[in-house]
Amino acid sequence: MIMNSFRIKAIAKSIPQKVVTNDDLTKIMDTSDEWIKRRTGITQRHIATRETNTSMCIDVAKQLVEKAGIDVDTINFIIVATMSGDYQTPSTAASVQGAIHADHAVAFDVDAACSGFVYGTSVMNSLLAGKPNGIGIVIGGEKLSRLINWQDRGTAVLFGDGAAGILVQNDGSTSQVVSENLSTYGADGMCLTAGHHAGQNPFGENQEQDDPYIKMDGHAVYNFATKRAPESIEQAVADAGLQLNDIKYFIMHQANERIVKRVAKKLGLSMDKFPVNIDKYGNTAAASEPILFTELEEQGLLQRGDYLALTGFGGGLTVGTVIIKY
Ligand code: ACO
Repeated sequence: MIMNSFRIKAIAKSIPQKVVTNDDLTKIMDTSDEWIKRRTGITQRHIATRETNTSMCIDVAKQLVEKAGIDVDTINFIIVATMSGDYQTPSTAASVQGAIHADHAVAFDVDAACSGFVYGTSVMNSLLAGKPNGIGIVIGGEKLSRLINWQDRGTAVLFGDGAAGILVQNDGSTSQVVSENLSTYGADGMCLTAGHHAGQNPFGENQEQDDPYIKMDGHAVYNFATKRAPESIEQAVADAGLQLNDIKYFIMHQANERIVKRVAKKLGLSMDKFPVNIDKYGNTAAASEPILFTELEEQGLLQRGDYLALTGFGGGLTVGTVIIKY
């Protein structure tokens, strides 16, 4: 019988150079640094100007290969989690595969919005289970700035761009993914939409309207997140046979610092266990958990054997948690 196996060999991030502060936004819309900080915790975000979603993901993939010290020919799978791919097709993952010449890798995108990295990690865990010695890359990459209506202060202040990911291998040891809990609430999906292209055809009147920009019922998503994220975390922790206090860090999707605080409070846990970096990056959707994960690793805060809970929530609506024994 094939043992389920998934070990993280490298972790890396790629952040666009351009920093846009809250004060910068006050020059183009009716908002204030005070409002944005108080309501969300955001101070600044990085916005891709020269970078594309694909170029950031390629940068992450190259760093991962370099850090893990592997040959690109040995990569079996590349997954990019994104809701803002530069093209509908080719997928961002296929472009990454081509750019790094991972000629033996199967590559595809996963679109689960801000839960994308957690969903992608779960898919990779399953793929690698059937592939002894298999190697995979999971990247969360977003260029959300191209989905933003810069006239809409209700959403424009919230989002940022970036990419980050992990390189993992089935090395025959026990999987680091000790449990997972994923759920989808498609019936509520229209409270967070982006990227609707109605298109034209010559065969009839098109009733649809273009609706390209991120539109969100903020209160509905806030209520969803603060109800479903704690449920997902509690279930995943229980399924791992652990207690909440066994988890060293809850690496939560950075949508709003108030959401993170509310989830911590609902779970009866101290904010010390909930690292936050939304002040620097804003909401980077599928990139947000791996960017935070990478920063914790870079700061030397993670030890082998630590239990980590990665939780995403957002468009779909989707929610998901994976518990990793680092
Ligand atoms: N600057 C100043 N004022 C603003 C701004 C702004 N940028 N945006 C809204 N306001 C005003 C509103 O017009 C409103 O004014 P009014 O009282 O005169 O009508 C007031 O501020 C309060 O607005 P609310 O929308 O009630 O503010 P709230 O405290 O709910 O915060 C927010 C809004 C930040 C969007 C919050 O609802 C939230 O974080 N929701 C969850 C979003 C989320 O988690 N998304 C994750 C998924 S993202 C994904 O999947 C891509």
